[in-house]
Amino acid sequence: MSTPTATAPAIRVQGIEKSFKDLQVLRGVDFDVAAGSIFALLGSNGAGKTTLVRILSTLLKADAGAASVHGFDVVASAGDVRESISLTGQFAAVDEVLTGRENLVLVARLRHLKNPGGIADELLTRFALTDAGSRRAGTYSGGMRRRLDIAMSLIGNPPIIFLDEPTTGLDPQARKEVWQTVKTLAGQGTTVLLTTQYLDEAEHLADRIAILHEGTIIQNGTLAELKRLLPAATVEYVEKQPSLEDVFLALTGVTGPTDAAAAAQTEGEKR
Ligand SMILES: Nc1ncnc2c1ncn2[C@@H]1O[C@H](COP(=O)(O)OP(=O)(O)OP(=O)(O)O)[C@@H](O)[C@H]1O
Ligand SMILES: [Mg+2]
Repeated sequence: MSTPTATAPAIRVQGIEKSFKDLQVLRGVDFDVAAGSIFALLGSNGAGKTTLVRILSTLLKADAGAASVHGFDVVASAGDVRESISLTGQFAAVDEVLTGRENLVLVARLRHLKNPGGIADELLTRFALTDAGSRRAGTYSGGMRRRLDIAMSLIGNPPIIFLDEPTTGLDPQARKEVWQTVKTLAGQGTTVLLTTQYLDEAEHLADRIAILHEGTIIQNGTLAELKRLLPAATVEYVEKQPSLEDVFLALTGVTGPTDAAAAAQTEGEKR
């Protein structure tokens, strides 16, 4: 497998279009993800996040446009793409009948790696699951199951991971644990593309945030850049920076900047 140059983006998406019969889901999606960064794709239910992740992970073919992952075209070099990624889907892929350790060993065996037991033990330690390792995964809490799911997807050390709504349905504590896991991964150089409907998740985790709305990326920037799209609402004695939620709602047309400013003002008056 060749290694792309340092400057090449880890993921490049250009003009991707996808329809399901008459339903145009993606209408020309473009973005790049820098290697080693965390990129959040934000969008409402049905915006097309999972569809895009499936295209990038070679599970689905786009109607038009091009995408490359780790320097490989998702259609022409689908096999190389699959070797460069892992995908943690929206619904956990953990086998509940097996123990946590058995789940990990199974994946390591499927990937033909040497020493599956050693790999499993190392991951159990890394994800603070050692004590639970010999218990059936069916007895795990949602957060533990998600951590196991992410641990399974890391077997073989893929340079790029896709996390489709990694914390949906988790309580705040479990969400923080998953966030910490994702941050650690990115700190070690793994490129992470995650989808989320949670604005605070993007706000806490992502180096860059792209908003997918009505089939296209309507904004793409750092949190600071997105926040600059709305002016800080000033009242006589308090200044409130717009939150990512204000920016998202203004951009997706649920409320306008004026409304956000008014809301901020009301918020200021309450204090
Ligand atoms: N295989 C399919 N056949 C027909 N329609 C589909 C198919 N897959 C997705 N869709 C439709 O495409 C749209 C986008 O779906 P997608 O799952 O990508 O959205 P999403 O952004 O991931 O939403 P959610 O936040 O609910 O997970 C939805 O209207 C969905 O019903
Ligand atoms: Mg989805």
